[in-house]
Amino acid sequence: MREINACLFDLDGVLVDTAIYHYKAWRRLANELGFDFTEKDNEKLKGISRIQSLKLILEWGGIKKTSKEIEELSQKKNDWYLEMIADIQPNELLPGSREFLQELKDHGIKIALGSASKNAIIILDKTNIRHFFDAIVDGNMVQASKPDPEVFLIGAKLLNIQPQQCVVIEDAVAGVEAALAGNMKVIGIGDKGVLKEANLVVASLAEMSIDQLNSL
Ligand code: G6P
Ligand code: MG
Repeated sequence: MREINACLFDLDGVLVDTAIYHYKAWRRLANELGFDFTEKDNEKLKGISRIQSLKLILEWGGIKKTSKEIEELSQKKNDWYLEMIADIQPNELLPGSREFLQELKDHGIKIALGSASKNAIIILDKTNIRHFFDAIVDGNMVQASKPDPEVFLIGAKLLNIQPQQCVVIEDAVAGVEAALAGNMKVIGIGDKGVLKEANLVVASLAEMSIDQLNSL
């Protein structure tokens, strides 16, 4: 057993119910281009950057685009996504999010965000949870996309905590892999069958307690 001093949270699909909006916006783009993809395919998009997601989607559709077109398409998707989250409220926080953040704060455990999203700050502000974070690492600050551990290693460094004393909370396969590659423990939010490699999988943060962190 080791002592956990920090929790690093993914955002979309862990704290806030935004994963569904990413999925809807990407699907709309694919449909406009003349094809579709499934919810199972969508698992592969979770946790990876906007441009990498688009490149994967274009591959699925067998479509080739120039880098200028790729830039325009990713902008189009982001405009739709921003429309979808324009009125997002604290009530779109996922069950247990705010309570677990508060519990960590009360116990002096450091909190960081480790998200691939370039829209992370907007969402933290709209849902009123930004003040919980001691460090925020988002898609504007990283070079390598999950499953590379960069986003979480920067988070641990900003908190001044060793990776071995960090727990990552993730809903994406790429994010679980990133945490393990960074030598951190990882709790999966979602389906055990999908997030096989996580140290523990729970359906939502409502099932989490501080005691579980140290027993990983
Ligand atoms: C997160 C989500 C992905 C999303 C990515 C980039 O990792 O899980 O679905 O594509 O962030 O988000 P952004 O808001 O920058 O387009
Ligand atoms: Mg996520």
